[in-house]
Amino acid sequence: MTKTKKPENKMKKAIVLTGITTTGTPHLGNYVGAIRPAIEASKDENVTPYYFLADYHALIKCQEPEKVRQSSLEVAATWLALGLDTSNAVFYRQSDVPEILELTWILSCVTAKGLMNRAHAYKAAVAANEEEGAKDPDKGITMGLFSYPVLMAADILMFNANKVPVGKDQIQHIEMARDIAGRFNHIYGEHFTLPEAVVDENTATLAGLDGRKMSKSYNNTIPLFESEKKFRKLINKIKTNSLEPGEPKDPDTCTLFSIYQAFATESELAEMREQYAKGIAWGEMKKILFEYINEQIAPARERYNALLDAPEHIEEQLQEGARKAREVSAPFLQELRQAVGISKITR
Ligand code: TRP
Repeated sequence: MTKTKKPENKMKKAIVLTGITTTGTPHLGNYVGAIRPAIEASKDENVTPYYFLADYHALIKCQEPEKVRQSSLEVAATWLALGLDTSNAVFYRQSDVPEILELTWILSCVTAKGLMNRAHAYKAAVAANEEEGAKDPDKGITMGLFSYPVLMAADILMFNANKVPVGKDQIQHIEMARDIAGRFNHIYGEHFTLPEAVVDENTATLAGLDGRKMSKSYNNTIPLFESEKKFRKLINKIKTNSLEPGEPKDPDTCTLFSIYQAFATESELAEMREQYAKGIAWGEMKKILFEYINEQIAPARERYNALLDAPEHIEEQLQEGARKAREVSAPFLQELRQAVGISKITR
């Protein structure tokens, strides 16, 4: 038998999928590290991006309904304001695609508990309990946290994603999704594509107000669409050393410079390095940094605020995204149900 590739295979676009957990307000670090590259990637005609709000994931970390609701709104508005092209990208809310949760159960039944025992997030929670001398090493750990990687595997496998752009901390989860997919395929036949993690070594991790990595858990973030006034205040709060104006400064250990670097062009950076050598004053550098970034994000900030004033437009986009997602997930779930023996009785 000759093995020729089916023509439609060649035509098929690669599926790139990633989820955004809806806890918190998007900050500059999220923008530079995840949102900007994802929106850039979504313009590639050879891929179909699936980007979604992982609101069921949010419940693992946050049990304050108002916060989860608010974050979903802000994350959705942020992506739309920054110009995500929803005619190419499928942009949806996880909870609007119930097939994902059905698949989570089906996958749970082929997932080794031992595999989940090895998940970093779970192990870290157990280690924290042990350190604190708790009688029960599983103290405070929910089944949601424990089986988090299965829900994530369902997110990915539901759409047969080829590539999953994530941060380093998520690589293990993608490997687990591959494991789970392989196990399912072995038992029930080839249904799932094995996904690959894509970690972009070039995207910057941005420093925060105190010089550590900008992160909600360090409380050192600069919200992306903060008002201009507050934005200026926050930039002024960024920690510097006590070198005086006129004293040469080292750009490579400077938080201000590292943030500037995430936005500026090569030639602007070279120019700024010279300014540092000449001893630019911290006050001056903060002013430049504020004006520079503010100018870049101001138009998106305006669109963001307009979207928040008319949230029904956001909802409309999400509904359209869910409709497109379910065109894929509903028939695929039927196939999977059949495969495992869940089906109507027929003669
Ligand atoms: N767990 C991911 C994070 O915390 C978010 C996420 C949920 C995700 N489902 C996903 C990422 C599926 C990639 C693919 O960052």
